[in-house]
Amino acid sequence: MLQHDILVVGGGLAGMRAAVEAAELGLDVGMLSKIHPVRSHSGAAQGGINAALGNREDDTTDAHAFDTVKGSDYIGDQDAIELFAEEAPQAIIWLEHMGCIFSRMDDGRIAQRPFGGASFPRTCYCADVTGLVILHTLWEQCQRLNVKVYEEWFATALSVQTGVGSGVVALNVTDGTIEAIRAKATIFATGGAGRSFYKTTNGLSSTGDGMSMAYRAGIPLLDMEFVQFHPTTLKSNGVLMTEGARGEGAYLINALGERFMFKYAPTKGELASRDVVSRAEQTEINEGRGVDGCVFLDLRHLGKQKIMERLPQIRELALDATGIDAIDEPVPITPGMHYWMGGIQTDKHGATPVPGVYAAGECACVSVHGANRLGGNSLLETIVFGKLSARHAADYAARISAPDFNANLLESERSRIGAMLANKGGERVNVVRDEMGKAMMEGAGIYRLPATIQVGINRIRELKQRYKQISLDDKGRVFNTDLTGALELGFLLDVAETTLAGALRREESRGAHTRLDFPDRDDEKWMKHTQARYRPDADPELGDKQVTVTKWQPQARVY
Ligand code: FUM
Repeated sequence: MLQHDILVVGGGLAGMRAAVEAAELGLDVGMLSKIHPVRSHSGAAQGGINAALGNREDDTTDAHAFDTVKGSDYIGDQDAIELFAEEAPQAIIWLEHMGCIFSRMDDGRIAQRPFGGASFPRTCYCADVTGLVILHTLWEQCQRLNVKVYEEWFATALSVQTGVGSGVVALNVTDGTIEAIRAKATIFATGGAGRSFYKTTNGLSSTGDGMSMAYRAGIPLLDMEFVQFHPTTLKSNGVLMTEGARGEGAYLINALGERFMFKYAPTKGELASRDVVSRAEQTEINEGRGVDGCVFLDLRHLGKQKIMERLPQIRELALDATGIDAIDEPVPITPGMHYWMGGIQTDKHGATPVPGVYAAGECACVSVHGANRLGGNSLLETIVFGKLSARHAADYAARISAPDFNANLLESERSRIGAMLANKGGERVNVVRDEMGKAMMEGAGIYRLPATIQVGINRIRELKQRYKQISLDDKGRVFNTDLTGALELGFLLDVAETTLAGALRREESRGAHTRLDFPDRDDEKWMKHTQARYRPDADPELGDKQVTVTKWQPQARVY
């Protein structure tokens, strides 16, 4: 049987940061990735990574922590948020030492731009390709440390034996073999689940794999109802136009050419937090001040030189997709599904309630983002909690002998996948997937109502039944992307179901979760996390988990 001390599932930023840390600590590490690591969705992150670096004396880690708590609409766990902000400056310096080429100020210090919801410019960046630059930096380190990479391996199930995590079953996509990979500790770093929505900024690989595998193995998902809509995504194809554009001074304008954001956020305007800006745009559109369902991102006044120096990628992306040159014309944008605040329940060290199983990055809910994440905090989360989860996993692995692999799991996964290949039920992956995406757009969008959420829940229940009848055209074993697409769809349906269930249950509006029938935040009743537990062939079991407050009591949240 294949085996390692630490198995990292996912080769994006959180996964590679975890793998590098574990390898530096001298452990035997395997890193499994369903695509080549440098093609991970982390590479699409554009605008930057937050840290109170000390470029400005009045910015502090405490200010970063407070902005994050406020951004979370007071439901982020404050012990984790304080640790997160304290770790941030060192995370940037470490990346810098590993060769990450940050953009600079004239005096040579790392440049920082303003981002939404932040009291100071504290977002470090590499023009508008920050995620990609960090991804390549970490890949170099994985190579240097000879991390064993299972490239184009697709994890299908988590092994838990006598209550302890012990690795995964995985499909080698290149030849179709299905193997057990045993590990003392398994770290999920599989990213988000944006592909459960019809339109998203997320890459094709963001299919909730780790969330679903952990959930099916008995680990709770937390706060799944909190889904972030990014304020600036291209109307035509949903591609991200970085918040860094507004950080550099771009405006949002409506059909009348008005800068509307100060109506909604009198102090911060375009640089309010994402939930506030996305709701404002949607309101402008709903009230008839949009054009064909969109508003505009206006960069013209920044001038060609600044655009080409700081925002070259988004100019090119908009030009390619729409023919519009942001140097000369405003770009049509809408709010678009972007990020999952919820995920696999972990503590502030990345440990899940099941010993030997950890999670880091977007698939995890630590919870540092609460009900709304601040821009620039997701890249930071990958680096901070990638490292911390590896450290804690390494400590754990040093204390135990290799646990047993779940005796039945390998055979049951082989027969499940074999049955999928043989199935002649007639349902198509793309049809079920599109219907799920539409149900999520309707039920789990920016503005939510119980009736539409319930329609979404009913639809997902029905799709889960139809999923059992999926037929694949490709019956082969080698690079069968029809099969991996079907497995991903199963994961996405779990994510969709828990999200809608949480959205229906939470009768308040907080952060990115806006219930039109409960327009206010209700701290008395809802200052708590939603915990979703798996029940085979039944709706998720929902419960509560307490929010950790250290020093910031909830206040009115205005920008
Ligand atoms: O707007 C952006 O560049 C996205 C950043 C983020 O999601 O943190």
